[in-house]
Amino acid sequence: MGDRYIIKGNTKLVGEVSIGGAKNAALAILAAAILSDETCTIENLPKVSDISVLLSAIEQTGAKVDRVDDHTVKICGKTVSTKSIDYDFIRKIRASYYLLGSLLGKYKNAEVALPGGCNIGSRPIDQHIKGFEALGATVKLEHGMIIASADRLVGTNIYLDVVTVGATINIMLASVLAEGTTIIENAAKEPHIVDVANFLNSMGAEIKGAGTDLIKINGVQKLHGTQYMIIPDQIEAGTFMVAAAATGGDIVVKNVIPKHMEAISAKLQEMGAVVTEGDDSIRVVGNQEYKPTNIKTLPYPGFPTDMQPQMTVALCFAQGTSIITESIFENRFKYVDELSRMGATIKVEGNTAIIEKSSKFTGATVSAPDLRAGAALVIAGIIADGFTVVERIDYIERGYEDFVGKLCGLGAQIQRVTTDKEEQKFRLKKTS
Ligand code: EPZ
Repeated sequence: MGDRYIIKGNTKLVGEVSIGGAKNAALAILAAAILSDETCTIENLPKVSDISVLLSAIEQTGAKVDRVDDHTVKICGKTVSTKSIDYDFIRKIRASYYLLGSLLGKYKNAEVALPGGCNIGSRPIDQHIKGFEALGATVKLEHGMIIASADRLVGTNIYLDVVTVGATINIMLASVLAEGTTIIENAAKEPHIVDVANFLNSMGAEIKGAGTDLIKINGVQKLHGTQYMIIPDQIEAGTFMVAAAATGGDIVVKNVIPKHMEAISAKLQEMGAVVTEGDDSIRVVGNQEYKPTNIKTLPYPGFPTDMQPQMTVALCFAQGTSIITESIFENRFKYVDELSRMGATIKVEGNTAIIEKSSKFTGATVSAPDLRAGAALVIAGIIADGFTVVERIDYIERGYEDFVGKLCGLGAQIQRVTTDKEEQKFRLKKTS
C-alpha cells in the first residue's frame, strides 16, 4: 500500500492558512538562475518534492547549489560543467526541460532527456522546439534525449501556435542572452510567467510585456546575480478556497495576490459561496446550497485547468447539473472514476464532465491519478461520510507543502500513514 492519507470525513474546514511560493514559478526561476555566473538568492520556495528534484538536476550540471533553509536557496552558474541532464531527473519532473532553455541560452548547447508523458495528456514540446529553431538552434531527438545546439542565437519573431506556459518561458530563457530582439506572439500570460520575467530583469535582462500575449526580449551580454522572492502559489490558494466552499466551511487564505485568483473567486461567487478580498488575503465562506455552474478551463486569465478537479468536487453538491469543459489537456478527467466510487454522479463525454447533484459522498479507498486530482480527492474525503484512504500521495506532495498539516490546522481529521497498524490506530481513535 505504501504511504497514504487516511481521512475521517464530515468535517467543515474553518480557520486561516498561509500560502507558500508558486511551484510553477519557482521551477522556472531555479532553472533561470544558472544563466548568470554570479550568485542568485531565491526566497519563498515551496518545500515540495518537484523543487528538491530540480535542485538535484541543477547540481548535476555542476552549478553550485546552497540550500540556505527549507524555503531559500543560493545558486551560482559559474561552475556549470555539463550540459547534459540524465533521464532519471527528467522522468521525475517535466519542468527539468527549462534547463534546456537556460543551458542553450547561456552555452549554446544543451542535452536534456525528453520529458515522459504525464497522466493528464501527451504534453508535447513542439512549440519549445519551434522557438529554439527560430533562434538559430539545431534541435534533434536521439535516444530519448533532446539535443539543442547553435553557433549563434539571434533574436527573431516567434508566433506560438498554442498558448503554452512552458514554451513561453523556455523561449524567454533561450533568448535572454541572444543577439538582438526576440518577440513572442500569442504568449501565455500566467502570473508565473510575469514572475520569471521579473526575476530575469532583476538579473539585468530586458524583457517587456510579460503578462500580455506579446513579450519583447532584448538580448543582453550577460546577467548578474540577484536576490528574489517567489510570488504566492495561486493554485495552492485556489485549492483551499474551493475546499472552504466544498466543505461548507470558512477559510481565510493569507499571503496571496487576490488578482491572481480572480477567475476562481468569480466562479465561487457565481455558485453561491461568499468571497471577500483583502489586500493580501481572501476569505471564502461556504453555503448550504450552491447554484449549478458551468466552467471552461482556459489559459490565464481564464479559469485555470489546475483548479478543474477541485471545482468538480464542489459542484457535486450544487442544486442541479453543472458542466465543466477541459480545453487545455486531453485527459484530465481520470479522477472522475475515483470520485464515482465515493458517490459522485458525473458523466464524462470527451473533454466535458456533466456533474449531477450527489446526495452524499461515502468514504472509500481511492488513488490519486495526478497532483491536482489528488488534492480534489482529499477534499472529497473531508466531505464524505466515514473514512477515505487516498493512495499515490507522492503526486500530491509534488506540489503541496505540508498539505496534511495545513488541513489539520483547519480542522480536518487527516493523517499521513505508512503501515496498516497506523491506519487502524487512526480509525479507532476517539474523534474530537
Ligand atoms: C504548466 O504545464 C504547468 N506545469 C501545469 O501545471 C499547468 O497545468 C499548465 O502549465 C497549464 O497552465 C508547470 O508549470 C511545471 P502548457 P505546461 O505548455 O507548461 C499544449 C500542475 O499541476 N502544448 O501551457 O506543460 C499542451 O499539450 C501542472 O502544477 C503543445 O501543444 O503546460 C497543452 O494542451 C499540471 N505544444 C497546452 O499546450 C507544446 O510545445 C498547455 O500546455 C507545449 C504545450
